[in-house]
Amino acid sequence: MTKTPDVGAEQRVLEDDLVATVVMSFEKAVDPRLREVMQALTRHLHAFIRDVRLTEQEWTTAIEFLTAVGQITDDKRQEFVLLSDVLGASMQTIAVNNRAYRAATEATVFGPFFVDDAPQIPLGGDIAGGAAGQPCWIEGTVTDTDGNAIPGARIEVWECDEDGFYDVQYGDGRMAGRAHLFTDENGSYRFWGLTPVPYPIPHDGPVGRMLEAVGRSPVRAAHLHFMVTAPELRTLVTHIFVEGDPQLVIGDSVFGVKSSLIKQFAQQSAGTPTPDGRALGYRTWARTRFDIVLAPVAT
Ligand code: BEZ
Ligand code: FE
Repeated sequence: MTKTPDVGAEQRVLEDDLVATVVMSFEKAVDPRLREVMQALTRHLHAFIRDVRLTEQEWTTAIEFLTAVGQITDDKRQEFVLLSDVLGASMQTIAVNNRAYRAATEATVFGPFFVDDAPQIPLGGDIAGGAAGQPCWIEGTVTDTDGNAIPGARIEVWECDEDGFYDVQYGDGRMAGRAHLFTDENGSYRFWGLTPVPYPIPHDGPVGRMLEAVGRSPVRAAHLHFMVTAPELRTLVTHIFVEGDPQLVIGDSVFGVKSSLIKQFAQQSAGTPTPDGRALGYRTWARTRFDIVLAPVAT
């Protein structure tokens, strides 16, 4: 925590007065929540400016930076989400809103690469859709925190290909490396995906330049995204990470890793029989298990 520099009594009163005046300016907001948020934002923003004794040049640079973040943002590129992610603001918002509840699976960052209309696959189907990578069998169950199986839970999964790119990053309209499926009557699911690989978040824009300036890597630990929904249960947005991935030690650029989400992806040599009899010929493959526990809605 930074200690506010000693600026002298007269200057401190002047700065305190300005904070109080701005806070008061929101007093008449009709929506009490909006009032609370804007007044707290004012206090924290002014405290930050005062703590670091922000120079006018630095404030101009900050405004130019935010302008660039806005200018590169469009319906395909969301630089503000990236900024929130690399500042840890996304993960902090997730922490505040997804309190630990019994054995419920932990949530992590959503990221910018989810799309609404991914195809449905049957249980045991393949999400790759032409995306390149090592085949990986993923299976598990969806239960509530009392251990009851959740049949018909909707599972959205998405991931990048072996080159570290999501389908939407190719810009040619392809749909690959994503799908949705439903759990069976026992709450079980299984599908073929790709063994996840580490990849950099888009870093050719202002957020990437900021990371470079502070000596931080844009690379994310290898992961596979899940979003799981079922009636009366809290929607879970999460990933699983790959045990042994060196990036787990180096660090995840968006602070998304939680140890409970690191899973063993067991490597299988070529010729090892697959769970569903799929013939993979000379190819190696991997398998993992992810049992998902959903919290009740009001937790
Ligand atoms: C992702 O995992 O897809 C992601 C998350 C945060 C920023 C960029 C990408
Ligand atoms: Fe991702």
